Amino acid sequence: MEKKLWGGRFSEGTDAFVEEFTESVSFDRELALYDIKGSIAHAKMLGKQGIIPEEDAQKIIDGLEEIEREIREGRFRWKKELEDVHMNIEKALIEKIGEIGGKLHTGRSRNDQVITAFRLYLKEQTQDIINLIEELKKALLQKAKETVDIVMPAYTHLQRAQPVRLAHYFLAYLELYNRDQERFKDTLKRLDQMPLGSGALAGVDFPIDREFTAKELGFVEVMRNSMDATASRDVVIEFLSDGAICMANLSRQAEDLIIWNSTEFSFVELPDKLTTGSSIMPQKKNPDVLELIRGKTGRVYGSLVALLTVVKGLPMAYNRDLQEDKEPVFDTVKTLKGSIIGMTKIVEGLKPIKENMEKGAGGFALATDLANYLVRKGMPFRQAHHVVGQVVGYLAGQNRELENITLEELKRFSDLFDEDALSLLNPYQVADARKSFGGTGREQVLEQIRFWEGKLYGNG
Ligand code: ARG
Repeated sequence: MEKKLWGGRFSEGTDAFVEEFTESVSFDRELALYDIKGSIAHAKMLGKQGIIPEEDAQKIIDGLEEIEREIREGRFRWKKELEDVHMNIEKALIEKIGEIGGKLHTGRSRNDQVITAFRLYLKEQTQDIINLIEELKKALLQKAKETVDIVMPAYTHLQRAQPVRLAHYFLAYLELYNRDQERFKDTLKRLDQMPLGSGALAGVDFPIDREFTAKELGFVEVMRNSMDATASRDVVIEFLSDGAICMANLSRQAEDLIIWNSTEFSFVELPDKLTTGSSIMPQKKNPDVLELIRGKTGRVYGSLVALLTVVKGLPMAYNRDLQEDKEPVFDTVKTLKGSIIGMTKIVEGLKPIKENMEKGAGGFALATDLANYLVRKGMPFRQAHHVVGQVVGYLAGQNRELENITLEELKRFSDLFDEDALSLLNPYQVADARKSFGGTGREQVLEQIRFWEGKLYGNG
């Protein structure tokens, strides 16, 4: 049985069930290196301020650095009886350098210690995620550049609506993921505030120097209120919420590509190395990466709801419930990073099947433009809509497409139709007529590509 660091006032050992139930080291050891970083900065500050002798501070730092090496090399022995990552490291330090190690916790509480390590971890993860989204944005821009001259049917209600250039679709997702990235950047500002030096909740009665530790740890600001600093997890929830929104976007694009990859659509081909086979049906090439991006979205939403629920109704300030903030975050980090990497690979590797997209972009997807033709000749839009609706009904009844209607037939519906109405029935021309800012016309698409070239590579 390990002696507890807080065992002073207890007359009997902890029940084995309680040890098992309350431990967090099995998962919070993920924070080990951040915890050590925080402790080294704290020890340095204690020495500099004369709160502990400088040579003791140095021994503590040396000991912590040795523990860090042991952890990195997988030699460190974690003990559940020591509860969490913080107690494991502190106990190991005392074992290594003797009683002096017990001076490390001067002017500090696990309550400010844990959230300091967690914020250091979250800052690093958030920056990683921002970088991964940057790669996804670049992949989308590259695909957009390659697909300016492919036209496809765009859908509303999953019904063919109007032709767009395929590049326009990729640029749409570039916009979405750019906003995801901005949300993470914004969260990073609020993560960059240091709780250390708040003690258990009320501050510290030693002459500590918080500006110094903040600088050592690379935080831009020191948190102003010790109760807020130790009790709040809103920024962690914000991170999970950024992740949930990003997963929603990834999941939605995954769904598009799953449909496009089906035999029925056959709009894209996915590279063999990013798909998997079926154990029973030899013909299958399954989009499992996309399906798992879509599927794993559920657990990320779950994590957000879990932590929102943990903090709801917690009295000020720290409560042990807050230990439940970690697993949802670790799981979200792993899932989100994997999903962004997966989507980047898919976007880079997918091959559009131009003929099938073009075929789908013609036909009744051109009906709006036929109506607009009549509008340009003076017919009110509602009436034009009705006339073209009749044309569509007439052709559909004969199993014919819009492109093979004759002028003579058109004139039966309205004498405003002329020869030029027939030449309009081409998806490229129809797409390019959408010259409004943000539309799918070729010039507009090229302008947006130039915009993103400038943003992502600084040369546009
Ligand atoms: N493992 C704890 C957590 O994650 C550390 C803080 C414990 N503080 C305490 N007063 N028991 O929240």
